[in-house]
Amino acid sequence: MSETFDGDWLALREPFDAAARNPALAARFIAALPERPVIMDLGCGTGSLLRWLAPRIAGDQAWLLVDADAGLLARGLAETADWAEAQGFDVSVRGGLTVTTPHGVWRIATRVADLADLEGLDIGDADAVVCSALLDLVSRRWLEALAAAVRGPMLACLNVDGHDRMMPSHAGDIAVTTGFRRDQARDKGFGPSVGRHAEAAFRAAFSARGFAVSAAESHWRIAPGAAHMLSALVHGHADAAAHWMPAARGTIRAARAARLRQIAAGRLAMRVGHRDLLALPNGGY
Ligand SMILES: C[S@@+](CC[C@H](N)C(=O)[O-])C[C@H]1O[C@@H](n2cnc3c(N)ncnc32)[C@H](O)[C@@H]1O
Repeated sequence: MSETFDGDWLALREPFDAAARNPALAARFIAALPERPVIMDLGCGTGSLLRWLAPRIAGDQAWLLVDADAGLLARGLAETADWAEAQGFDVSVRGGLTVTTPHGVWRIATRVADLADLEGLDIGDADAVVCSALLDLVSRRWLEALAAAVRGPMLACLNVDGHDRMMPSHAGDIAVTTGFRRDQARDKGFGPSVGRHAEAAFRAAFSARGFAVSAAESHWRIAPGAAHMLSALVHGHADAAAHWMPAARGTIRAARAARLRQIAAGRLAMRVGHRDLLALPNGGY
Protein backbone atom coordinates (compact mmCIF):
# COMPACT_ATOMS: atom_id res chain seq x y z
CA MET A 1 0.00 0.00 0.00
CA SER A 2 1.64 3.27 -1.09
CA GLU A 3 1.84 6.38 1.06
CA THR A 4 -0.54 9.09 -0.16
CA PHE A 5 0.36 12.75 -0.62
CA ASP A 6 -1.89 15.77 -0.99
CA GLY A 7 -1.50 17.69 -4.27
CA ASP A 8 -1.96 20.99 -2.40
CA TRP A 9 0.98 20.08 -0.15
CA LEU A 10 3.12 19.32 -3.23
CA ALA A 11 2.09 22.72 -4.69
CA LEU A 12 2.93 24.49 -1.43
CA ARG A 13 6.40 22.98 -1.28
CA GLU A 14 7.25 23.37 -5.00
CA PRO A 15 8.90 26.84 -4.75
CA PHE A 16 10.94 25.69 -1.72
CA ASP A 17 11.96 22.53 -3.60
CA ALA A 18 12.94 24.59 -6.64
CA ALA A 19 15.07 26.95 -4.56
CA ALA A 20 16.70 24.04 -2.69
CA ARG A 21 17.67 21.57 -5.45
CA ASN A 22 21.36 21.72 -6.23
CA PRO A 23 21.98 23.16 -9.74
CA ALA A 24 25.66 22.12 -9.83
CA LEU A 25 24.84 18.46 -9.23
CA ALA A 26 22.01 18.67 -11.77
CA ALA A 27 24.48 20.10 -14.32
CA ARG A 28 26.71 17.04 -13.88
CA PHE A 29 23.67 14.78 -14.36
CA ILE A 30 22.72 16.66 -17.53
CA ALA A 31 26.29 16.42 -18.88
CA ALA A 32 26.03 12.61 -18.58
CA LEU A 33 22.80 12.38 -20.62
CA PRO A 34 22.75 11.15 -24.22
CA GLU A 35 21.10 13.14 -27.01
CA ARG A 36 17.28 13.03 -26.79
CA PRO A 37 17.25 11.25 -23.44
CA VAL A 38 14.35 9.18 -22.15
CA ILE A 39 14.06 10.10 -18.47
CA MET A 40 11.98 8.18 -15.93
CA ASP A 41 10.77 10.20 -12.89
CA LEU A 42 9.92 7.83 -10.02
CA GLY A 43 7.25 9.04 -7.57
CA CYS A 44 6.83 12.17 -9.67
CA GLY A 45 3.74 13.51 -7.86
CA THR A 46 2.51 16.47 -9.90
CA GLY A 47 5.74 16.85 -11.90
CA SER A 48 7.59 19.48 -9.87
CA LEU A 49 10.99 17.98 -10.76
CA LEU A 50 10.22 18.01 -14.50
CA ARG A 51 9.31 21.71 -14.34
CA TRP A 52 12.66 22.40 -12.63
CA LEU A 53 14.93 20.06 -14.62
CA ALA A 54 13.52 19.97 -18.17
CA PRO A 55 14.35 23.63 -18.96
CA ARG A 56 17.94 22.98 -17.83
CA ILE A 57 18.29 20.11 -20.35
CA ALA A 58 18.71 21.85 -23.68
CA GLY A 59 17.26 19.82 -26.53
CA ASP A 60 14.65 17.17 -27.22
CA GLN A 61 13.75 14.93 -24.30
CA ALA A 62 11.12 12.34 -23.37
CA TRP A 63 9.79 11.95 -19.84
CA LEU A 64 7.94 9.05 -18.28
CA LEU A 65 6.30 10.24 -15.07
CA VAL A 66 5.57 7.32 -12.75
CA ASP A 67 3.42 7.45 -9.62
CA ALA A 68 0.92 5.25 -7.78
CA ASP A 69 -1.56 8.13 -7.56
CA ALA A 70 -3.50 8.62 -10.82
CA GLY A 71 -5.04 11.83 -9.45
CA LEU A 72 -1.61 13.40 -8.89
CA LEU A 73 -0.49 12.36 -12.38
CA ALA A 74 -3.58 13.96 -13.99
CA ARG A 75 -3.12 17.13 -11.94
CA GLY A 76 0.57 17.11 -12.87
CA LEU A 77 -0.15 17.06 -16.60
CA ALA A 78 -2.66 19.91 -16.24
CA GLU A 79 -0.26 21.98 -14.09
CA THR A 80 2.64 21.34 -16.46
CA ALA A 81 0.53 22.36 -19.49
CA ASP A 82 -0.48 25.62 -17.75
CA TRP A 83 3.10 26.27 -16.63
CA ALA A 84 4.51 25.58 -20.12
CA GLU A 85 1.98 27.92 -21.74
CA ALA A 86 2.89 30.60 -19.21
CA GLN A 87 6.54 30.21 -20.36
CA GLY A 88 5.36 30.88 -23.93
CA PHE A 89 5.85 27.25 -25.09
CA ASP A 90 3.43 25.47 -27.44
CA VAL A 91 1.53 22.67 -25.74
CA SER A 92 -0.38 19.84 -27.32
CA VAL A 93 -2.37 17.41 -25.16
CA ARG A 94 -2.88 14.01 -26.75
CA GLY A 95 -2.41 11.01 -24.47
CA GLY A 96 0.37 12.80 -22.62
CA LEU A 97 1.81 16.22 -23.36
CA THR A 98 4.06 17.52 -26.10
CA VAL A 99 5.74 20.80 -25.23
CA THR A 100 7.54 22.62 -28.02
CA THR A 101 10.17 25.01 -26.70
CA PRO A 102 12.77 27.10 -28.57
CA HIS A 103 15.38 24.58 -27.37
CA GLY A 104 13.66 21.31 -28.18
CA VAL A 105 10.52 19.22 -27.93
CA TRP A 106 9.54 17.53 -24.67
CA ARG A 107 7.34 14.45 -24.87
CA ILE A 108 5.73 13.71 -21.51
CA ALA A 109 3.88 10.48 -20.74
CA THR A 110 2.52 9.15 -17.46
CA ARG A 111 2.23 5.73 -15.94
CA VAL A 112 0.32 4.60 -12.86
CA ALA A 113 2.44 2.00 -11.06
CA ASP A 114 3.34 0.86 -7.57
CA LEU A 115 7.08 1.37 -7.29
CA ALA A 116 7.29 -1.23 -4.55
CA ASP A 117 7.40 -3.74 -7.39
CA LEU A 118 10.26 -2.61 -9.62
CA GLU A 119 9.97 -5.63 -11.90
CA GLY A 120 7.85 -4.78 -14.91
CA LEU A 121 8.74 -1.08 -14.78
CA ASP A 122 11.47 -1.54 -17.40
CA ILE A 123 13.72 0.91 -15.60
CA GLY A 124 16.69 -0.33 -17.63
CA ASP A 125 15.04 0.97 -20.81
CA ALA A 126 15.31 4.57 -19.59
CA ASP A 127 18.45 6.54 -20.44
CA ALA A 128 18.29 8.15 -17.02
CA VAL A 129 16.29 7.94 -13.81
CA VAL A 130 15.34 10.81 -11.51
CA CYS A 131 13.29 11.29 -8.36
CA SER A 132 12.63 14.02 -5.85
CA ALA A 133 11.53 13.68 -2.23
CA LEU A 134 11.13 9.94 -2.64
CA LEU A 135 14.11 8.06 -1.25
CA ASP A 136 13.49 8.68 2.44
CA LEU A 137 10.28 6.62 1.98
CA VAL A 138 12.04 3.53 0.65
CA SER A 139 14.02 0.67 2.23
CA ARG A 140 17.65 -0.40 1.85
CA ARG A 141 16.53 -3.53 0.03
CA TRP A 142 14.47 -1.49 -2.44
CA LEU A 143 17.47 0.77 -3.13
CA GLU A 144 19.58 -2.31 -3.86
CA ALA A 145 16.95 -3.52 -6.35
CA LEU A 146 16.82 -0.05 -7.92
CA ALA A 147 20.61 0.11 -8.28
CA ALA A 148 20.53 -3.29 -9.99
CA ALA A 149 17.91 -2.04 -12.48
CA VAL A 150 19.25 1.43 -13.37
CA ARG A 151 21.53 1.56 -16.42
CA GLY A 152 22.28 5.26 -16.90
CA PRO A 153 22.79 8.29 -14.64
CA MET A 154 20.45 8.79 -11.71
CA LEU A 155 19.65 12.06 -9.95
CA ALA A 156 17.79 11.80 -6.65
CA CYS A 157 16.87 15.22 -5.27
CA LEU A 158 15.73 16.34 -1.83
CA ASN A 159 16.51 13.43 0.46
CA VAL A 160 16.04 14.39 4.10
CA ASP A 161 19.24 14.21 6.15
CA GLY A 162 17.97 15.05 9.63
CA HIS A 163 19.83 18.37 9.83
CA ASP A 164 16.71 20.32 10.65
CA ARG A 165 16.78 23.48 12.71
CA MET A 166 14.07 25.71 14.11
CA MET A 167 15.10 29.25 14.96
CA PRO A 168 14.62 30.07 17.82
CA SER A 169 14.89 26.70 19.55
CA HIS A 170 12.21 25.48 22.00
CA ALA A 171 12.30 23.08 24.94
CA GLY A 172 9.85 20.76 23.16
CA ASP A 173 12.02 20.36 20.05
CA ILE A 174 13.67 17.15 21.27
CA ALA A 175 10.34 15.37 21.81
CA VAL A 176 8.97 16.54 18.45
CA THR A 177 12.16 15.55 16.60
CA THR A 178 12.34 12.14 18.29
CA GLY A 179 8.74 11.30 17.44
CA PHE A 180 9.02 12.66 13.90
CA ARG A 181 12.12 10.55 13.24
CA ARG A 182 10.26 7.45 14.35
CA ASP A 183 7.58 8.29 11.83
CA GLN A 184 10.18 8.77 9.11
CA ALA A 185 11.46 5.23 9.72
CA ARG A 186 8.10 3.46 9.48
CA ASP A 187 7.23 1.22 6.54
CA LYS A 188 5.70 3.35 3.75
CA GLY A 189 5.10 0.49 1.37
CA PHE A 190 8.72 -0.42 0.60
CA GLY A 191 9.83 -2.05 3.88
CA PRO A 192 11.42 -0.13 6.78
CA SER A 193 12.15 3.39 5.52
CA VAL A 194 15.72 4.65 5.34
CA GLY A 195 14.45 8.11 6.36
CA ARG A 196 17.32 10.49 7.11
CA HIS A 197 19.83 7.73 6.24
CA ALA A 198 18.84 7.84 2.57
CA GLU A 199 22.24 9.12 1.44
CA ALA A 200 24.21 6.34 3.15
CA ALA A 201 21.83 3.67 1.84
CA PHE A 202 21.91 5.13 -1.70
CA ARG A 203 25.72 5.33 -1.64
CA ALA A 204 26.04 1.73 -0.49
CA ALA A 205 23.55 0.37 -3.06
CA PHE A 206 24.86 2.28 -6.09
CA SER A 207 28.58 2.00 -5.24
CA ALA A 208 28.18 -1.78 -5.01
CA ARG A 209 26.94 -1.71 -8.63
CA GLY A 210 29.92 0.30 -9.88
CA PHE A 211 28.31 3.75 -9.91
CA ALA A 212 30.25 6.83 -8.81
CA VAL A 213 28.09 8.58 -6.23
CA SER A 214 28.23 12.29 -5.38
CA ALA A 215 26.10 14.38 -3.05
CA ALA A 216 25.42 18.05 -2.43
CA GLU A 217 23.38 20.11 0.01
CA SER A 218 19.80 21.03 -0.88
CA HIS A 219 18.26 22.39 2.32
CA TRP A 220 14.90 24.11 2.50
CA ARG A 221 15.47 27.54 4.05
CA ILE A 222 12.14 28.86 5.19
CA ALA A 223 12.02 32.51 6.19
CA PRO A 224 9.62 33.92 8.82
CA GLY A 225 7.28 35.35 6.16
CA ALA A 226 6.43 31.88 4.78
CA ALA A 227 3.65 31.35 7.33
CA HIS A 228 1.68 28.76 5.33
CA MET A 229 4.71 26.50 4.77
CA LEU A 230 5.94 26.89 8.35
CA SER A 231 2.47 26.05 9.75
CA ALA A 232 2.20 22.96 7.54
CA LEU A 233 5.57 21.72 8.82
CA VAL A 234 4.84 22.50 12.47
CA HIS A 235 1.50 20.64 12.30
CA GLY A 236 2.95 17.74 10.29
CA HIS A 237 5.86 17.21 12.67
CA ALA A 238 3.71 17.60 15.80
CA ASP A 239 0.99 15.22 14.53
CA ALA A 240 3.56 12.55 13.66
CA ALA A 241 5.44 13.00 16.94
CA ALA A 242 2.25 12.82 19.04
CA HIS A 243 1.34 9.53 17.35
CA TRP A 244 4.67 7.91 18.23
CA MET A 245 5.28 9.55 21.60
CA PRO A 246 1.93 9.41 23.44
CA ALA A 247 3.63 10.00 26.79
CA ALA A 248 5.04 13.30 25.50
CA ARG A 249 1.77 14.65 24.09
CA GLY A 250 1.61 17.52 26.61
CA THR A 251 5.12 18.70 25.68
CA ILE A 252 4.37 18.33 21.97
CA ARG A 253 1.10 20.27 22.32
CA ALA A 254 2.88 23.11 24.12
CA ALA A 255 5.65 23.18 21.48
CA ARG A 256 3.09 23.30 18.66
CA ALA A 257 1.20 26.18 20.29
CA ALA A 258 4.42 28.13 20.88
CA ARG A 259 5.52 27.60 17.25
CA LEU A 260 2.17 28.78 15.90
CA ARG A 261 2.40 31.94 18.02
CA GLN A 262 5.93 32.55 16.69
CA ILE A 263 4.74 32.09 13.11
CA ALA A 264 1.89 34.58 13.64
CA ALA A 265 4.40 37.06 15.08
CA GLY A 266 6.84 36.50 12.17
CA ARG A 267 9.50 35.16 14.54
CA LEU A 268 10.03 31.58 13.37
CA ALA A 269 12.46 30.45 10.66
CA MET A 270 13.29 26.89 9.75
CA ARG A 271 15.89 24.88 7.93
CA VAL A 272 14.97 21.37 6.74
CA GLY A 273 18.09 19.43 5.84
CA HIS A 274 18.22 17.69 2.46
CA ARG A 275 20.85 16.18 0.19
CA ASP A 276 20.74 15.74 -3.58
CA LEU A 277 22.40 12.56 -4.83
CA LEU A 278 23.95 11.71 -8.18
CA ALA A 279 24.99 8.24 -9.39
CA LEU A 280 26.99 7.96 -12.61
CA PRO A 281 27.47 4.51 -14.15
CA ASN A 282 30.86 2.91 -14.80
CA GLY A 283 32.51 4.94 -12.07
CA GLY A 284 31.46 8.24 -13.69
CA TYR A 285 32.19 9.84 -17.04
C1 LIG B 1 6.91 13.45 -1.27
S1 LIG B 1 6.03 13.09 -2.73
C2 LIG B 1 7.15 13.76 -3.94
C3 LIG B 1 6.47 14.06 -5.25
C4 LIG B 1 7.34 14.72 -6.29
N1 LIG B 1 8.47 13.90 -6.65
C5 LIG B 1 7.80 16.08 -5.83
O1 LIG B 1 9.00 16.27 -5.63
O2 LIG B 1 6.94 16.96 -5.67
C6 LIG B 1 6.25 11.31 -2.93
C7 LIG B 1 5.57 10.78 -4.15
O3 LIG B 1 5.83 9.38 -4.21
C8 LIG B 1 4.65 8.72 -4.60
N2 LIG B 1 4.68 7.35 -4.06
C9 LIG B 1 4.78 6.98 -2.77
N3 LIG B 1 4.77 5.64 -2.67
C10 LIG B 1 4.67 5.16 -3.94
C11 LIG B 1 4.63 3.85 -4.50
N4 LIG B 1 4.68 2.76 -3.74
N5 LIG B 1 4.54 3.74 -5.84
C12 LIG B 1 4.48 4.86 -6.63
N6 LIG B 1 4.52 6.11 -6.16
C13 LIG B 1 4.62 6.27 -4.83
C14 LIG B 1 3.52 9.54 -3.98
O4 LIG B 1 2.28 9.32 -4.63
C15 LIG B 1 4.07 10.94 -4.17
O5 LIG B 1 3.67 11.50 -5.38
